[in-house]
Amino acid sequence: MKKITIAIDGHSSCGKSTMAKDLAREIGYIYIDSGAMYRCCTLFCMQRGLIRPDGSIDVESLQRLMPEIQVSFRLNASTGRPDAYLNGVNVEERIRKMDVSAHVSPVAALPFVRAAMTAQQQEMGREGGIVMDGRDIGTAVFPDAELKVFVTASDEIRAQRRLDELRAKGEEADFESVLANLRERDRIDSTRAVAPLRQAEDALVLDNSHLTIPEQKQWLLERFKERTA
Ligand code: DC
Repeated sequence: MKKITIAIDGHSSCGKSTMAKDLAREIGYIYIDSGAMYRCCTLFCMQRGLIRPDGSIDVESLQRLMPEIQVSFRLNASTGRPDAYLNGVNVEERIRKMDVSAHVSPVAALPFVRAAMTAQQQEMGREGGIVMDGRDIGTAVFPDAELKVFVTASDEIRAQRRLDELRAKGEEADFESVLANLRERDRIDSTRAVAPLRQAEDALVLDNSHLTIPEQKQWLLERFKERTA
């Protein structure tokens, strides 16, 4: 059977990566978390002192150093999911911390960062058989994807899910700052000039505010079966 391309876009912390990972595992496709790639670029900036104390980015230096950023994914045998590597180092846990989340949207808004990551993402999906989640997968990275889904949920529900995730990892955070961070990221992601977060015209919309993880998984699996029938 021909392997298709599946694009899952949506707001931050709406559970799209959980759905995407579960589907990929179930159907034997590759899963790529494109947000992890922008998080890796942001961590690189932090490590190289390219984010100034006022939060602004040393854009000139970043542009010069872009060729030094190598992002890859390798399967983690114990979780069964791919971990992100920045220049050969496993940064899967590091890139999920609040300090990276706080700086990632301005980094992801830079056109030369997007061009580099988009090219890598298109290369990863050249053969099909991929589930990729992000903000612009159905609109800019794979506009011809056979299945496009746009996921959303209410701000408060997304903040609570994110808070639970951070706390489960032992990170201290409070509801208000998590909510403020995700609203600010959505604002920057939706209003940037290049490849802003928006629903592709041919995307199926899923508001998962009141769905359980197994219900979402089932919904997505059914859509996949329809597309490949
Ligand atoms: O999905 P996430 O929260 O890990 O994404 C991190 C940031 O990266 C998010 O603020 C927006 C950006 N992003 C993007 O601009 N384009 C993508 N395809 C994926 C993520």
